[in-house]
Amino acid sequence: MHDNKVQIFDTTLRDGEQVPGCKLDKKEKLVIAERLDLLGVDVIEAGFPISSPGDFSSVEEISKLVKNATVCGLTRAIEKDIEVAAQALKYAVRPRIHTGIGTSESHIKFKFNTTQDKIIERAIKATAYAKNFVDDVEFYAEDAGRTDNAFLAQVLEQVIAAGATVLNIPDTTGYCLPEEYGAKIKYLRENVKGIENVILSCHCHNDLGLATANSITGVINGARQIECTINGIGERAGNTSLEEVVMILKQHPTLNLHTDINSQLLYDTSLMVSEKMGMMVQPNKAIVGANAFAHSSGIHQDGVIKNRETYEIIDPAEVGVTESAIVLTARSGRAALAYRAKKVGYELTKKQLDVAYHSFLEVADRQKEVKDDDIHIIMDSIQMKAGVLA
Ligand code: KIV
Ligand code: ZN
Repeated sequence: MHDNKVQIFDTTLRDGEQVPGCKLDKKEKLVIAERLDLLGVDVIEAGFPISSPGDFSSVEEISKLVKNATVCGLTRAIEKDIEVAAQALKYAVRPRIHTGIGTSESHIKFKFNTTQDKIIERAIKATAYAKNFVDDVEFYAEDAGRTDNAFLAQVLEQVIAAGATVLNIPDTTGYCLPEEYGAKIKYLRENVKGIENVILSCHCHNDLGLATANSITGVINGARQIECTINGIGERAGNTSLEEVVMILKQHPTLNLHTDINSQLLYDTSLMVSEKMGMMVQPNKAIVGANAFAHSSGIHQDGVIKNRETYEIIDPAEVGVTESAIVLTARSGRAALAYRAKKVGYELTKKQLDVAYHSFLEVADRQKEVKDDDIHIIMDSIQMKAGVLA
């Protein structure tokens, strides 16, 4: 199972919704799920059904609504969790149960106060139990990022034998370096019996700002699913950002990896999630931030006006942004002023531009940004100076 398609597993509605203060109601979750299906994600993790009656009901309604994507529900390695998830997923066209347990030394010792052997037993039992309800069972080895590779391989070999179809390798604490995470995936591919029959999945957190880099290194080393969220939202510093991994794979055809995401819907989807969660996107966020296609220094503006590719590696239309923005500030040059003035109706000669630019700099030094209204005021004021614009 090693073709070039990377499955996109969206967990905005589960790991993403764990952000404090960003809880969504059922109606909002349904609207987002419908949009994710349209966007082309392969899997929607709709929630953690046993966690609350509200979450159960959301997973159930999403299962009824979604037509294309697999709908997935999270569980712990506990029979009751698995039964409840199966119940919530019963209307899904393509249901998946996502079960698992912590495998790192710290989880085994402090969370479970148990032994490695007992963890393997529980992992096998949960996977086999989930298999009674659905064909598609994903197993997560929580804190796999800090789990010893040999022990991780042992656990995974056993859950494959118990019927797991997807193996999730979460860097739960966002600790791994890209080389380390990539090497882990490679090690598992080379040392786990039966691995060729399942999909390896990257689930990376962003505590050190490495979630995207780790996920990409994971797929370069043979993983074929990335778990991610819109705008990179999620616990603490967040999860891998969906829009980033999708555009990295698209912008680097030499990697020979692709997704089925309709990238033109990325910007709108980002706005939708940001608005419904009441969580603003940082302006300098890659791909979907307000400044991702905005140019404010004179040198860059001059280049972009001559040819967009001088300072942009992505055509904004590819991610659903109408056009690049030329932002007028005190760092802008004449080319930018002429460009923006033309957009609001003033075709300036060289002489007119010289005069206008002088007034523009006075305004720009007084305020952070010069907007369209300011351009009209500047033009009015200089026309008043007798004859200068003749
Ligand atoms: O980060 C993590 O380990 C998780 C698992 C529950 C999949 O979110
Ligand atoms: Zn997570």
